[in-house]
Amino acid sequence: MISFGGGLPAPDVFPVQRFQEACHKVLTEHAAAALQYGETEGYRPLRELLANNMARYGIKAKPENVLITSGSQQALDLIGKLFINRGDRVLVEAPTYLGALQAFNVYGAEYESVPIDENGLRTDLLEQPLRSGPRFMYVLPNFQNPAGTTLSEARRHELVLLADRYGIPIIEDDPYGQLRYEGEHLPSLVVLDRENLRRDEGYSIGNVIYLSTFSKTLAPGLRLGWIVAPPEVISKLAQLKQGADLHTSTFTQFVAYEVARDGFLDKHVKLIRQIYRERRDVMLQSLEELFPPAVTWTHPQGGLFLWVTLPEGLDMKAVFKSALEQNVAFVPGDSFYAHDGHNNGFVEGSRHMRLNFSNPAPAEIREGIRRLSIALKSHLPASTLSSELALDMR
Ligand SMILES: Cc1ncc(COP(=O)(O)O)c(C=O)c1O
Repeated sequence: MISFGGGLPAPDVFPVQRFQEACHKVLTEHAAAALQYGETEGYRPLRELLANNMARYGIKAKPENVLITSGSQQALDLIGKLFINRGDRVLVEAPTYLGALQAFNVYGAEYESVPIDENGLRTDLLEQPLRSGPRFMYVLPNFQNPAGTTLSEARRHELVLLADRYGIPIIEDDPYGQLRYEGEHLPSLVVLDRENLRRDEGYSIGNVIYLSTFSKTLAPGLRLGWIVAPPEVISKLAQLKQGADLHTSTFTQFVAYEVARDGFLDKHVKLIRQIYRERRDVMLQSLEELFPPAVTWTHPQGGLFLWVTLPEGLDMKAVFKSALEQNVAFVPGDSFYAHDGHNNGFVEGSRHMRLNFSNPAPAEIREGIRRLSIALKSHLPASTLSSELALDMR
């Protein structure tokens, strides 16, 4: 089975030797502290390292603005716990990250979905849903999961302005921001909010809560993410975190600090970018060569996913079954939509599939796309296949 399903990093990029050395160092030099209970907000040197690292991307937060979490997934849960009362509405992109919906569902969230296009969230459609007073907006500006799209710079400016005008906080989820394979880095919403609206040198106030993680740059098994927010919000989230798990594993935080320090994280991210850029290109090239012309897909500038759109009228369940018979897997698009009562019986996402290109090796990507194209072609009417492909089918 070749899987384009999960959002898994390539295991061959895990810096195993650096982890071995870090574990050894932590246990020989810092065992008493690393094996002890720690502060809820997180290991101070790690928070400082993160603050320094983010400053290079324009996020000039202080360690007091950083709360270490057990993965970004816990950050989403804590945000749900802090903000959502049963029946509150959350504004999300359509499609959006499934794990966020799962986290918010637990607290009884209802949803207002706003569609995305190739430039990310359709900010031209935001005013009406914002007027209806959602608790917050949950947005993925960089290389969105699942669609791989990036929010344009103009829309970023518009988004923070609109959010401020209607007093709706933004949760900016950014696990992939550093994994850019082409084009220039675009400013984060948290940066634009501060620069355009607050004239606040620090992060003492602000309308954006920023999330990121080591899952895609070091290893998801670490379960280490972080939240950047004004200290007042950090202290509320820390209280909730205390009730959940006291603090994120001290040992893991010490190890991550030793791994990431002295410029290693940057060097490693460069290596990952090279490897994933190649995989993305192999997938795009294979799609171009093998998929029927009636099928389209996004061209992600970074991240781990691309989003395929099939012609109308295909039965995605049947396509999925055929794909599994060909020993290739993907995630059907309908998983990534909140059900907000506007769907009129239409299953949103039923024409889409999410494909991951970070985990399979280039040769597997090529072979997997070949298998997927066979599965697809068996469901497409001959008129939608090119003459060459139609010949191929016989
Ligand atoms: C958009 C998004 N947010 C959050 C997460 C959760 O990341 P973590 O492994 O840090 O919990 C993921 C994981 O794939 C993700 O894609």
